[in-house]
Amino acid sequence: MKGLLTLAYDNGTLTVLDQTRLPVEEAYVELRTVRDVFRAIETLQVRGAPAIGAAAAYGLAISARNRADDDIEAMLEGIRSDAQYLVRARPTAVNLRYAVERVLDVLLSVTDSYAPSDIIATIEIEADAIQYEDAQTDRRIGENLLSLLHNGATVLTHCNAGMLATTGCGTALSPFYLAKERGMELHVIADETRPLLQGARLTAYELMRGGIDVTLICDSMAAFVLSNGLADAVIVGCDRVAANGDTANKIGTLGLAVIAKHYGVPLYVAAPTSTIDMRCASGDSIPIEMRDGDEVRSFAGTQSAPAGVNVMNPAFDVTPNDLISAIVTERGILLPPFGDKLQALFQSGN
Ligand code: MRU
Repeated sequence: MKGLLTLAYDNGTLTVLDQTRLPVEEAYVELRTVRDVFRAIETLQVRGAPAIGAAAAYGLAISARNRADDDIEAMLEGIRSDAQYLVRARPTAVNLRYAVERVLDVLLSVTDSYAPSDIIATIEIEADAIQYEDAQTDRRIGENLLSLLHNGATVLTHCNAGMLATTGCGTALSPFYLAKERGMELHVIADETRPLLQGARLTAYELMRGGIDVTLICDSMAAFVLSNGLADAVIVGCDRVAANGDTANKIGTLGLAVIAKHYGVPLYVAAPTSTIDMRCASGDSIPIEMRDGDEVRSFAGTQSAPAGVNVMNPAFDVTPNDLISAIVTERGILLPPFGDKLQALFQSGN
C-alpha cells in the first residue's frame, strides 16, 4: 500500500505535506527556517503529536545549518534559544518537548574539538533516530491493538492518529493498516472532529487511500453509534498521558469516553511512550491549547456564526483514567489502574 509522506528532511530543508489543504490536494511545502517550522506546526500544516515532535527535531537541524558560520558557542546558544521557541508552537502534545529535549541532550556531548559540521551531523542523526523510532513504534502499537480486536470488528475513532499524524503508519489507525496487510477485515467509523475536521479531512482520506473500509459520521452521531451496538471498540490517539493515566487528546475525546463507558464499549488509547509525561502527575497539570475563535465561527472557510460572537475553542480535553479500558504502548498493553504500570514502564528503561 502506498503511504503518505508526512514529512521528509534533506540538507536543511524540511518538506511537509500541507495538511490544511487535504483532502482537496496533496501539496507539499518546503520549510527552510526555524520560523517556517514554527508556523507549519502552529497552523497545523504538520500536526499530530509524534509528527510535530519529529518536525521540531528537524527544525533544530535547520537551526544548526543556518548558523554554520557562527563560532561553536554562539551556534549552541542559538540552537538552544530556537529550541525554546519551537516548544511554544503548540503546548499540549508533549512530543514536541520530548523531541527537542532529546536533541538538546545529545548536544551536551559536544566538545571543543567539534566543528559546526559535526554539530549539524549530531542533530541530524538524532532527528533521523526520532523519525525512525516513531515508525517502528507505530507498528508495535498496531500489533498490540490488533490483539484486542476480532476479525470483522468495527472501531470508532476520533480526530486523526494515523499516517498523517506520525512518520509511520499511525498509532490509533495502525492496526487497520496491519489488518489490511494480513487480509483481516476491520471496519472504521470516523468522527468528523469539529472544528478542524481532522476526522473527515484526514482520517477518512488516508484510510480510503489505503483501501480500508471507513464510514464518516458527525461528532454528534457517536452516541447513536455506541448506543446501538454499532462499534465494538473506540480507539483514539493521545497528545499527553499523565503519570496516573489521565489522557489529553483532541477535543471531543472526553465526550466519546463518557458515552463509551455508559454503553460498555471499551476505549483504548494508543500511546507511544514519547507521549507519556511522567512529570505531569495528573490531567490537571496538562496545558490545554486554546485556539482562535474563527475556527469555530466559520466552517470550511465560510462564515457559520454571527461575526464577533463569543467563542470558546479548546483544542484538546482530558479523559480521566477511569474511563480508559487500556493504554496501548509499543512496549505492551497497560490495564487499569495505570499509575504503577506507567511508573514500571519508565523504570524498565526509557
Ligand atoms: O490538533 P491535532 O490535529 O494535532 O490533534 C491531533 C490529535 O489529537 C491526535 O489524536 C494525537 O496527536 C495523536 S496522533 C498519533
